[in-house]
Amino acid sequence: MLTEMQLLEPLQTCQDPELGRSFGELKMLAGASLGSGNVLNVTIDLPTPAYPRRARITELVQSKLRQAFPDIATVAVSYISNVRGKMSGGTIGLRAKNVIAVGSGKGGVGKSTIAASLAYGLQTLGCKVGLMDADVYGPSIPHMVGSQGAPSAVKHTTSTGETFERMEPIIADGLKVMSMAYFVKPDQAVIWRGPMLHKAITQFLKDTDWGELDYLIIDLPPGTGDVSLTLSQIVGLAGAIVVCTPQQVALLDAIKAVSMFRQVKIPLLGVVENMTGEIFGRGGARRKAEELGIPFLGELPIDSGIRIRGDDGRISSLFNDDNPSKEPLLHICQQAAIQVAKQLLHAPQMPQLEIL
Ligand SMILES: Nc1ncnc2c1ncn2[C@@H]1O[C@H](COP(=O)(O)OP(=O)(O)O)[C@@H](O)[C@H]1O
Ligand SMILES: [Mg+2]
Repeated sequence: MLTEMQLLEPLQTCQDPELGRSFGELKMLAGASLGSGNVLNVTIDLPTPAYPRRARITELVQSKLRQAFPDIATVAVSYISNVRGKMSGGTIGLRAKNVIAVGSGKGGVGKSTIAASLAYGLQTLGCKVGLMDADVYGPSIPHMVGSQGAPSAVKHTTSTGETFERMEPIIADGLKVMSMAYFVKPDQAVIWRGPMLHKAITQFLKDTDWGELDYLIIDLPPGTGDVSLTLSQIVGLAGAIVVCTPQQVALLDAIKAVSMFRQVKIPLLGVVENMTGEIFGRGGARRKAEELGIPFLGELPIDSGIRIRGDDGRISSLFNDDNPSKEPLLHICQQAAIQVAKQLLHAPQMPQLEIL
């Protein structure tokens, strides 16, 4: 009778098709056992539920094990997933494994649409997700996700008897959301100086009862590095995604956004081309990403359905029915999650401290 270790041995050095490291090194071999009927059951631990095309792993595992153990009748592969992450919010008590910022050089390119879709898409794929609207001057996330109301403050008591308050995020179609829009009247302008902005962003991260998250998606305001600088000072971001449209003039702004993230030392996860189609063209962002040495995460074609659902506060419905944007969006979510996992290979997990 072979032991579990012996059964898994031939897989240790197999390369993961996405991450380019071995299953052993990535700690993806969760278990193996011989079942009745001479079936070999293998369990693979994926670094994210958003892992794309896992059939590739199934085939790899099956062929490797059939070769190693010719007497086995069947190799059955099953999957679990544990999102790996930097846990970088530990110092401020934020229990989000990965914090992802979504930015752009300018407004109107679909940054909020992509940020909200990333959040709902990753949730659809089985991840625990939160969405933080850091565009305090022009918060549009609450409208897109169709939520309103004021977050309530909840008192908590620590094991040592100290009390502290946390804000409850607003739940919109199952997603935890926090935005400045929940604190101001719809047509009220927010006029703040830099230090107040810094304070608001810090509070959103620190004093919101996010719970445990695999991914916290942050919708950044367009352009300026203010909020990005604040973020990079208080949490170690998994990285940033730059959204841009395909035409040449828009790409100039995207280059500025990339340079801004580089200055504040936030890793770049990749570029998304939005509004691909006859009007703005196609492929500009992909080429620019290649030039800049940044991964290209995918394109989202221009489609009035996106605008209509966003206007109606039903952006999450993009994942509930058949529509032309669903597949491109899921592809972008998967690519983003893989890039987060790749980043992690270069920047190890941080220790988690509990500070309230
Ligand atoms: N791929 C797309 N197809 C059609 N409309 C889109 C698409 N992406 C975004 N939009 C629309 O464009 C407008 C601007 O998008 P938004 O996400 O608010 O941009 P930003 O946050 O960059 O200012 C919104 O009305 C939105 O619904
Ligand atoms: Mg926006």
